[in-house]
Amino acid sequence: QNAWKLADHPKLPKGKTIAMVVLDGWGEARPDEYNCIHVADTPTMDSFKTTAPEKWRLIKAHGSAVGLPSEDDMGNSEVGHNALGAGRIFAQGAKLVDSALASGKIYGGEGFKYIKQSFDNGTLHLIGLLSDGGVHSRLDQLLLLLKGAAEQGAKRIRVHFLTDGRDVLDGSSVGFVETLEKDLSNLREKGVDAQIASGGGRMYVTMDRYENDWNVVKRGWDAQVLGEAPYKFRSAVEAVKKLREDPKANDQYLPPFVIVDESGNPVGPVKDGDAVVTFNFRADRMTMLAKALEYADFDKFDRVRVPKIYYAGMLQYDGELKLPSHYLVSPPEIERTSGEYLVHNGVRTFACSETVKFGHVTFFWNGNRSGCFNEEMEEYVEIPSDVGITFNVQPKMKALEIAEKARDAILSGKFDQIRVNLPNGDMVGHTGDIEATVVACKAADEAVKTIIDAIEQVGGIYVITADHGNAEDMVKRDKSGAPQLDKSGKLQILTSHTLKPVPIAIGGPGLKAGTRFRNDVPTGGLANVAATVMNLHGFIAPDDYEPTLIEVVDN
Ligand code: 3PG
Ligand code: CO
Repeated sequence: QNAWKLADHPKLPKGKTIAMVVLDGWGEARPDEYNCIHVADTPTMDSFKTTAPEKWRLIKAHGSAVGLPSEDDMGNSEVGHNALGAGRIFAQGAKLVDSALASGKIYGGEGFKYIKQSFDNGTLHLIGLLSDGGVHSRLDQLLLLLKGAAEQGAKRIRVHFLTDGRDVLDGSSVGFVETLEKDLSNLREKGVDAQIASGGGRMYVTMDRYENDWNVVKRGWDAQVLGEAPYKFRSAVEAVKKLREDPKANDQYLPPFVIVDESGNPVGPVKDGDAVVTFNFRADRMTMLAKALEYADFDKFDRVRVPKIYYAGMLQYDGELKLPSHYLVSPPEIERTSGEYLVHNGVRTFACSETVKFGHVTFFWNGNRSGCFNEEMEEYVEIPSDVGITFNVQPKMKALEIAEKARDAILSGKFDQIRVNLPNGDMVGHTGDIEATVVACKAADEAVKTIIDAIEQVGGIYVITADHGNAEDMVKRDKSGAPQLDKSGKLQILTSHTLKPVPIAIGGPGLKAGTRFRNDVPTGGLANVAATVMNLHGFIAPDDYEPTLIEVVDN
């Protein structure tokens, strides 16, 4: 109990109501026509920067600042919210898998030994996102794992891939499949029966999250496990090229397909005695499939046939649920998060977003842990997301509803921290629809206004920040920063996140006079926010937390 006690802040009082707002996918970039935040009418966010510059700054949200392997790695919501909530920088999944593969330790681990039991008589199935985006998975890691598994004795391997187009350029799927095919044919030359068995676009097949739409996972199950899909092809490269010919098609939403042999039979349904590895390191979009693969009791869709398999995740995706029970690489141990500390120090918390980002302000925020720390102190509210649409048709999403829930929670007096994620900039930014993203940014800005108005009413404090960039840059650029065109002269739309820093603003009537950003943490990043917020709640952060961004000067 005592280990959890935080020291009092010498200058900042306790008991203030704090709104902690994360604008998803809201970075700071040059103001041009492809910067949707700049184009959009965003008076609230603009006002922080212009009216109180000592309470506005930029912080790093990508690369090493959030535990990613390199400075070329864009930020993402998982690592961003982990850093925001945990107040420290942990080597993240991407990096942990890199080192486990490089050292070969992955092959000596419990998880690999477990799946190895299939190698004599069964097939090893690898399911995951085919991408070099480094957000959920990486192609180079898949290729190393394939090679390693073959060296370790896997004789029959089937790859079930999901095409990306969301963390990478749309259309890049073809090149990734070609690369994969080349490696598989190398393996075949060495006598390993290795081939692609199925595929589909990540947003339509398998990679749903937070139980938004189980149909997505079912489509994947049917193709990957049962070997059934509306499209059948002899080759995966042909499949992706053909399916992309539809003018409305894109990598994110390709329909499911299976690869069939000369007699038209699927080459890789999952059978008793096989092993399955889900090779994504990131949890949110693999957890649902992991449940379908692992749970004996499962009622989310009819699995039809439940093969007895050896299943392992690349990582363990949920530390609280211990899901999956077998995994190749141990996940980062993100413990002693700010949420857990604050609960132990009497801070009552309300967290809210809509389904597609709900786990970001709960699960990721709390170090990849499901559920509350203390149900009496915390309330987590999920607003159901619209299902079965791409968010460019509904760019306002549930921003208003989230803001109203936050406002009510603020005015209720029942909570000390009201934490929300506003998904618009990110979810609409990922569609690549510039006009819709402009509408999205405006909606997010209006939601911020509603929340800070409530904070005004109760004499509270607001902290407004973001988890990574997205909506502030919608085109791929060359080195000089000029928008890049593809071979046909078309603008290359950037659906992914960016390497940009994100803003953080503090304010509100409850903010003690003289509180401002320090100027001696110039490299501050998302991990510095937790200590900052602890200060605003009247506490000093634990010693091993990244330093606070604020100071209080007496005037
Ligand atoms: C996704 O999962 O939607 C993208 O790959 C990353 O977006 P997020 O990190 O903002 O969730
Ligand atoms: Co995103």
